[in-house]
Amino acid sequence: MRPLDDREFEGICSWLYDESGIYMNESKKMLVSGRLNKRINQLGLNGFGEYLKILKSKDDEEVQIAINLLTTNETFFFREEKHFEFFEKHIIPEFLTNPSIKVWSAASSTGEEAYSFSLLMAKHLGVLKDWKILGTDINTDVLKRARSGIYPIEGIKHIDESLLKAFCLKGKNKDQEIFRIDDQIRNKVSFTKHNLINVLPTKSNFDLIILRNVLIYFELEDKQKIVQNMIQKLKPNGWFLVGHSESINGYSDQLKQYQPGCYRLESS
Ligand SMILES: C[S@@+](CC[C@H](N)C(=O)[O-])C[C@H]1O[C@@H](n2cnc3c(N)ncnc32)[C@H](O)[C@@H]1O
Repeated sequence: MRPLDDREFEGICSWLYDESGIYMNESKKMLVSGRLNKRINQLGLNGFGEYLKILKSKDDEEVQIAINLLTTNETFFFREEKHFEFFEKHIIPEFLTNPSIKVWSAASSTGEEAYSFSLLMAKHLGVLKDWKILGTDINTDVLKRARSGIYPIEGIKHIDESLLKAFCLKGKNKDQEIFRIDDQIRNKVSFTKHNLINVLPTKSNFDLIILRNVLIYFELEDKQKIVQNMIQKLKPNGWFLVGHSESINGYSDQLKQYQPGCYRLESS
């Protein structure tokens, strides 16, 4: 493994911060070194300094490859089940009387979060109703996997049997290690690249925004900016969910907390 000296590490951290807003400190040195080493070998480069030069030369393709390598994408179906209980108890009843619903799963990773919410929407609202979920992420590899709607079979252990039966297809024979989300759900969910430090360029606003397990990667000032930018994209009385350990209390006086991780835009 190539050595990553302090100056190179600082250079990579500052480059990553400029590109994505992700803040890394000394504790991430091993992680950065481990994740970029293989790529540096593949390219036949001398070391991190040379790689950093390529990144700074605005080689768009390499910039994306490095971002894909440096982001942490852990996720699973129905992660943080309290959100799904809250969703079914408080949000779905309102959606039942709403003729057109838009949901944004920001930092959606490989899509399990967007599909988990969409499975419950399909169950309670049906697939004929006008509802859509947009998943976004900065990492293009995870977006590709999300679009496929295909997952390792272990993922089913988090999904309720009735939802599995209604909206998922288990692979057979050589495909028995995978399952896929049925097209009636996939057609309602789309995925696109978006960097959270920018304002999402959409005309219409959302009834629900889900921003879970990603704020931890940002500094306080940037977290506040991200949340403030995102709530501009909420409809009046829209819901905003963040990870249970990611309080955003005090970030905006427009948001009222209903329970940990569950906020709503106050109508003025
Ligand atoms: C740990 S995953 C969280 C996935 C999902 N929300 C969940 O809670 O299970 C964090 C995701 O945030 C994405 N991410 C990190 N920085 C980002 C940024 N600046 N803009 C958009 N997505 C970002 C990563 O690529 C990764 O897929």
